[in-house]
Amino acid sequence: MATPLVIDTDPGIDDALAILLALASPEVDLRLVTTVHGNVELAQTTQNALRVLHLAGRSDVPVAAGARESLVYRQPERAGHVHGEAGLGGVKLEPSPAVPDARPAVVVLAELLMAAEEPVTVAAIGPWTNIALLLATHPEAAERIGRLVLMGGSAARGGNVTAAAEFNVWADPEAAQRVLGSAVPTVLVGLDVTLPTVLDDDGVARFAAAGPVGATAAAVLQQYLDHARTTYGTTGVVLHDALALTEAIAPGTLGTVRRDVVVDTTLGAGRGQTLVDRRAVSGSPTAVDVAETVDSAAAVEFLVARLEALARSRL
Ligand code: RIB
Ligand code: CA
Repeated sequence: MATPLVIDTDPGIDDALAILLALASPEVDLRLVTTVHGNVELAQTTQNALRVLHLAGRSDVPVAAGARESLVYRQPERAGHVHGEAGLGGVKLEPSPAVPDARPAVVVLAELLMAAEEPVTVAAIGPWTNIALLLATHPEAAERIGRLVLMGGSAARGGNVTAAAEFNVWADPEAAQRVLGSAVPTVLVGLDVTLPTVLDDDGVARFAAAGPVGATAAAVLQQYLDHARTTYGTTGVVLHDALALTEAIAPGTLGTVRRDVVVDTTLGAGRGQTLVDRRAVSGSPTAVDVAETVDSAAAVEFLVARLEALARSRL
């Protein structure tokens, strides 16, 4: 039986690849996509989610829009310079015939969780605002999450949006603190494992050649590739969200250790930093499983092979 899966997302180039990866994976049954502000504005992330699902022939998957803004302080800036002003690397995907659920994401998510016949995996790959709102407004539903896989934070790799902070946590540090303090079984997939996991041009070429869906995914990635080359001088891209979905799809892909984590929610230079207590394994009920080791080559092959298969299935 496939594990029921919900993706909370701010597409976003790597979000788009993560959604396609989930659709290419028989281990999971994508039941709902909830959208959140982040890389770009909510209206755009919602439209992008609809269009990515339609690209893969899955406009049947419901989409519900969530938070337009962070919980307390407005996110200082979006990430259009990384993901493109419309969030998908300047690629205009075909509009979807589907429309979002009229209800707020937390209501739709809570309803799904309460009705689920087995524990649901929730992968949060944008700012965690919707998850914090779920915990506050529907705690009884949050308790029914079987596994919460969070893309965000950094134990020992510093930040990617400031010297201290990773983007998803930086975008809403108060939400991050709320989520990391819950008792929901949680895996934290941060920069420590995503930064070493680089998809290179050869990998992109493989799924680009496999069919139109792969070619479109490669076109969406191009801006990310260009940004990595000009900003970091690297060839290849770090698909943060796709690695988080790999862990959601194949539990145990990443080596984890239970750690206590707090978020710097002050307004200084460290805002959004995740302070991971690496002194000892934690027995605390609010500790999280922090991903500390990864077989990056295997993770990249997992992604490329599945995107190839998805592209071939949509010829
Ligand atoms: O730091 C990586 C995260 O920020 C990813 O979710 C990516 O989509 C960006 O939003
Ligand atoms: Ca994202």
